[in-house]
Amino acid sequence: MTILGIETSCDETAAAVVTGDGRLLSSVVASQADLHARYGGVVPEVASRRHLELVAPVIRAALEDADVSLADVGKVGVTQGPGLVGALLVGLSAAKAVAWARGLPLVPVDHLRAHVATLYLEPDPLEPPFTCLLASGGHTLVLSVRDRTGFDVLGSTLDDAAGEAFDKGARLLGLGYPGGAAIDRLARAGDAEAHRFPVARVPGLDLSFSGLKTALLYTVRDLSETELEDRRADLAASYQRAIVHALVGRLRAAAEQTGHDALAVVGGVAANSELREALPEARFAPPALCTDNAAMVASAARFASALPPPGYLALDAYASSL
Ligand code: KG4
Ligand code: ZN
Repeated sequence: MTILGIETSCDETAAAVVTGDGRLLSSVVASQADLHARYGGVVPEVASRRHLELVAPVIRAALEDADVSLADVGKVGVTQGPGLVGALLVGLSAAKAVAWARGLPLVPVDHLRAHVATLYLEPDPLEPPFTCLLASGGHTLVLSVRDRTGFDVLGSTLDDAAGEAFDKGARLLGLGYPGGAAIDRLARAGDAEAHRFPVARVPGLDLSFSGLKTALLYTVRDLSETELEDRRADLAASYQRAIVHALVGRLRAAAEQTGHDALAVVGGVAANSELREALPEARFAPPALCTDNAAMVASAARFASALPPPGYLALDAYASSL
């Protein structure tokens, strides 16, 4: 059964087609990052309006790339939350319209479960149980994944998400928005030992990144424009090192607690090259499917319950799930 996935929880308008046995036939992502860059972050109202313009052409492109028509689609999966409610409602309404028009079932998908479900796509799906780090712009969670339908949260960030820490650090370094990939690139030219940034000591498996961001702020504030220019790569490398250390430490500690043999990392920050190198034993989402996409939504829709028409027409979006 062919599944159409739709994702509009933040600033990516995405659609994808996945087969019932988990093969990815197409994945189209229209990023709005450029549109929001001038504001230094996502502006919810602007995001919703852009999703409205993009959602139909993106769905059409995903079907075309997969070489299927709507008549071949067996169910529609869509992100219901968490995310920006106005943005989510655009994807949810589009999904309802497509499903209702063709009498198809609809699968409301949780965005966090969808990130994890990236790992269930062919050709090499990861079989639970495993210990998983989900690090994105909105969330940073340490999870015990028991089966394909759910997970237990073992730890989470007490303040900023890891991706948010990257983005705020990038802003302080004058690297623009979103900044994770820019820090990653610049860090390769820098000395990660040049600055010692603190990693917060938080009990259990929780994390905290707000102190790190403040430490960078204080360091940058005392530098002249030319000093900052000279040290930007070192600062990026040292800052990234502190985030990566914290994430790796928590994932390994969680693995000891769960006893699961397999480790995995998903979410936008899973694209980070230092994190990937620091965890050679872990499975990472493919680079193209780390940041938000609809392939992961269609993948999750294989394992979540489908609602028959017309019950789903009343479905609402939710901003947070934890
Ligand atoms: O999963 P995602 O697309 O959105 C949320 O669900 O939040 O994650 C986006 C986040 C951004 O904060 C971005 O800076 C970060 O992922 N990111 C990276 C890299 N690529 C994207 N962070 C570190 N290194 C990267 N290479
Ligand atoms: Zn995400």
